Amino acid sequence: MDFTPEIKAKLDQLQQKYTAMGQDMASYLDGLLYADFLTYWDYIHLDTLLSLQNPKTPFPDEEIFIMYHQITELYFKLALHECTQIAEKEHLNADFFTARVKRINAYFNALTSSFEVMVDGMEKEQFLKFRMSLLPASGFQSGQYRMIEICATDFIRLVDKSKRLELANETIETQFKYIYWKFGATELSSGKQTLTLKQFIKKYSEQFLALAKNRVDTNFSALYHKLKAEGQHVLPLAEELRKLDLYVNVEWPLSHYKSAVRYLEKDPVDVAATGGTNWQKYLPPRFQKRIFYPFLFTEQEVEEWGKSWVLSVLKTLKNDK
Ligand code: HEM
Repeated sequence: MDFTPEIKAKLDQLQQKYTAMGQDMASYLDGLLYADFLTYWDYIHLDTLLSLQNPKTPFPDEEIFIMYHQITELYFKLALHECTQIAEKEHLNADFFTARVKRINAYFNALTSSFEVMVDGMEKEQFLKFRMSLLPASGFQSGQYRMIEICATDFIRLVDKSKRLELANETIETQFKYIYWKFGATELSSGKQTLTLKQFIKKYSEQFLALAKNRVDTNFSALYHKLKAEGQHVLPLAEELRKLDLYVNVEWPLSHYKSAVRYLEKDPVDVAATGGTNWQKYLPPRFQKRIFYPFLFTEQEVEEWGKSWVLSVLKTLKNDK
């Protein structure tokens, strides 16, 4: 059989590639000859993936709870993947940045709308029982969620709102002492840190500090200001960043809060039985006012953060332009 000119050209290219590395092309062709064809299940490690659900109790709905957390963590990983691409891009421009933030927004849109799987997708009676076997583990301990925040904004924006002004010029280490989430997962009665929070601090502090230092000049806020100062056209980017801010700091937290209310609020006895945290005061976005890009919102929007206006408002604004 004669080789076509295209195949010959490819063989030449391969030969050059292997010669450059001091390798023998014929041996690699042997490898190709004997290798199995790839299957879908091997490629995506399907058997491993489907073996990662290990409920602690016999309640069937616990498996839903586990899988939805895993799905969420995969979406968080997708978001972080884009964060890294943006931060590490050489000669970053507004188009690339905007396209990547759009992807992250698509992930958070999916997460926000699918949260119904939690809110309406489990029997409350089962949930209230199986959750006792998971203590003190909590989604609060999601490290990836906090890493997305660190990549998205200046670190000072993640400091508790009562300390933001005072600590604006302090080191990352000092600011980290007052990061907003250290005021969550605390015992309602004593104000003490729960084991959930202590475990989380122990496992992730070093990693969070390293990432925060690494992102001082390459978090989304810093990069936006840099591109703007260079005179790049940043309006579409500003719009995507506003959406991101609303997804991460209003929409997703609200969907999540709904699930906490659905399963925990009407059951003071059970809440007390777990040590009872301050989640009712801590979770609603309007109390925390976590805002990545306050400079992209009006004073009134900042004032009403987490209240009535959400993505639909943004859409109206866009159509009005
Ligand atoms: C029935 C479903 C859920 C309930 C009842 C629930 C409940 C809670 C509560 C009460 C807190 C506050 C921390 C505390 O006081 O212990 C919390 C925090 C948190 N949960 Fe969930 N959760 C649910 C599902 C999820 C899922 C699926 C995820 C996905 C990873 C998640 C991620 C988080 C995160 C990231 C926080 C921290 C939020 C913040 O610091 O503002 N939760 N959750």
